[in-house]
Amino acid sequence: KAVRKAVIAGNWKMNKTSAEAKELITAIAPLVKDAGCDVVACVPYVDIATAIEAAKGTNIKIGAENCHWAVSGAFTGEISAEMLKACGVEYVITGHSERRTYFGDTDVTVQKRTRAALDAGLTVIVCVGEYLEQREQGITDELVAMQTKIALGGVTEEELKRIIIAYEPVWAIGTGKTATAEQANEVCAVIRATVKSLYGEKAAEGITVQYGGSMNAGNAAELLAQPDVDGGLIGGASLKPNDFAAIVDAAT
Ligand code: G3P
Repeated sequence: KAVRKAVIAGNWKMNKTSAEAKELITAIAPLVKDAGCDVVACVPYVDIATAIEAAKGTNIKIGAENCHWAVSGAFTGEISAEMLKACGVEYVITGHSERRTYFGDTDVTVQKRTRAALDAGLTVIVCVGEYLEQREQGITDELVAMQTKIALGGVTEEELKRIIIAYEPVWAIGTGKTATAEQANEVCAVIRATVKSLYGEKAAEGITVQYGGSMNAGNAAELLAQPDVDGGLIGGASLKPNDFAAIVDAAT
């Protein structure tokens, strides 16, 4: 774990106008300036320009919450990874369960979005995770391993350095119901083992695997202390400067 720098990333989801984004970044910046981990805020497309401006000269890096798989073309309403990169975006989330659940994302489209993001030079936070029924069926490990393998299809070992995998059990997202530290660690370890099977030991030891799902100021330390949990993808708590900063502190 010592070889891996933790990454704490906020996922603002569909929250904040650009004026509010400026306020939020400005409020968070002084609280996380001494962070020993990487700090990222993934923000709505329309907030990107303002967020990048507000984050200038700070250690906060800006990400997007999704990207399309094509470089350009007839895809009304979509945004390409190239466009994000041109704005100064450094990170992008792919495969978030809300995209999979409400907007038809599949393992295959997640792979294509991830490909496009890598081609554009972005660092990608690929989300995987099971529904409650799947956990109850006892297929969490297989499912998450499969999601990971498909998302990484065609990704080279060199490109893997720009991949973060976030384990987000769907039943823990926005529900206040966190996975126990043991549950989180167990599945993060499965993801690491999957990476090992594809790329070998060194790559597996180097990859950052985050946990996401109701992580907050109160439970972050225990989750982040787990050997295979290298950071967090934070929804609700990323909108509250003090809570987000407390999670960053817990990772440091
Ligand atoms: O991507 C972060 C996420 O889905 C977790 O959301 O609100 O449970 O922290 P939340």
